[in-house]
Amino acid sequence: MLIAFAEPSLPHGGTLIVTVGQDRALGPSVIAIDRITGGAVGRALAASRFTGKKDEVLEMLAPTGLEVARLLLVGQGKLETLTETAFETLGGTAVAFLNKAGETEAWLRLELPAGSTLSPGQAAAAAGLGAQLRSYRFDRYRTTEKPDQKPSLARLTVQVAAPAEAETAFARVQPVVAGVTLARDLISEPANRLTPVTFADRCTALTEVGLEVAVLDQARMAELGMGALLGVAQGSAQPPRLVTLSWHGDPTPAAGRDGRPVVLVGKGVTFDSGGISIKPAGGMEDMKWDMAGAAVVTGVMRTLAGRQARVNVVGVLGLVENMPSGTAQRPGDVVVSASGKSIEVINTDAEGRLVLADALWYAQETFKPRLLIDLATLTGAVIIALGHEHAGLFATEDGLADQLLAAGRAVGEPLWRLPMGENYDKDLNSDIADMKNVGSGRAGGSILGAQFLKRFVGDLPWAHLDIAGVAWSKKDTATVPKGGTGFGVRLLDRFLADIAEG
Ligand code: BES
Ligand code: MN
Ligand code: ZN
Repeated sequence: MLIAFAEPSLPHGGTLIVTVGQDRALGPSVIAIDRITGGAVGRALAASRFTGKKDEVLEMLAPTGLEVARLLLVGQGKLETLTETAFETLGGTAVAFLNKAGETEAWLRLELPAGSTLSPGQAAAAAGLGAQLRSYRFDRYRTTEKPDQKPSLARLTVQVAAPAEAETAFARVQPVVAGVTLARDLISEPANRLTPVTFADRCTALTEVGLEVAVLDQARMAELGMGALLGVAQGSAQPPRLVTLSWHGDPTPAAGRDGRPVVLVGKGVTFDSGGISIKPAGGMEDMKWDMAGAAVVTGVMRTLAGRQARVNVVGVLGLVENMPSGTAQRPGDVVVSASGKSIEVINTDAEGRLVLADALWYAQETFKPRLLIDLATLTGAVIIALGHEHAGLFATEDGLADQLLAAGRAVGEPLWRLPMGENYDKDLNSDIADMKNVGSGRAGGSILGAQFLKRFVGDLPWAHLDIAGVAWSKKDTATVPKGGTGFGVRLLDRFLADIAEG
């Protein structure tokens, strides 16, 4: 789908999309169109339950007086509080409707309420971004789709008073689209296609956009003593990889700016069967997306390179497959991590933390980060706690937590902070090793996961995002079609723009 920007005009053919505020608040455009159509808009509103709430759509076919095939009224909710997210929602909602309706060309007439804090260009770019994000599809394995099942919209023109400004703002967010798209592609890819090796190959290809990529193989990881990560990998026929993606956007930090990188670490379990502590069959296919943390880190790195971000960031991906077999690790095995700490593996299904133990160590040892953030589909328990609307946030510093919370709110990828503490940590003590990989029961499962990771984090600001509940969506939302969401790409991009570059 092509997206363009132009000044308002009445199109010939296609669909004209106009917006309506809460309680049928009509702006000047809609009032003018009502007049041209001889009051048809008013009559349609009166005949419907459409009130202008966010996400509501009212379709008027072949309206007399206009030369369009369809007039689409889209609700925008309360006009006083319109944010960028509201315009993303508008763009996403409109294109989803028209793709189902079979429309090929549309014009979206934007209207900003008086006193809006957003400029027309920003609002138009946000609408375009929402349209793009919602138009994402993972269809590379579909061969028999009929034309009427495919999305139809070929072109969307956003009508706005300042099209040039909109184009500039829209161009600026294209790296975000590229990063989110890459993350979603990786997350949706099945585990027979995306193995640790093919994932690493996809990373290596990113040298083309200016990232520096290094790949550690099994032998190198063995030399480094990564017994925790390798213990998870040893049951699989697929060899593990550890990938680093580096972006040096701030080569000569000015006075006061810290040149040390922010390091992002991602859990990349390309399939999590549970290992010998095998998972139940029902829903096990979901565990192809147990590499979403690594995919999101990859997506963020793609975005940073795309927008030539003035910041130094390194992504570290721990890529393994967790399988049961004659060579798999057993419950009760003790492994020694690269940090030297030993771990009694009580449950082979708590594998993400084992992978991250060594990846976090490597990240700190190699890159001396000023700040460390990991992303992982770590626990089912975070879904019990927060459902699918917030990711779980753990942080060692309130300031860091607040900055991440704010970035998440700003881009519509919200986090909810959960507590940590010494008394939780005690539950990880083992009788025969430095720690166990699970607590004694199911209580506070996500917190125990975070406490385990913290044992591998030195004295630096650290945050852990448990994205198990938000990495995959079973339903469409305004800007996120069902499937891999890419949750975290926009959040971390915004966080890095706000904080590291600010
Ligand atoms: N990858 C899973 C967590 C998960 C569950 C992600 C559901 C997405 C959806 C993780 O490796 C796991 O199996 N965690 C265990 C931990 C337990 C053994 C302490 C879990 O959540 O049951
Ligand atoms: Mn698991
Ligand atoms: Zn897992």
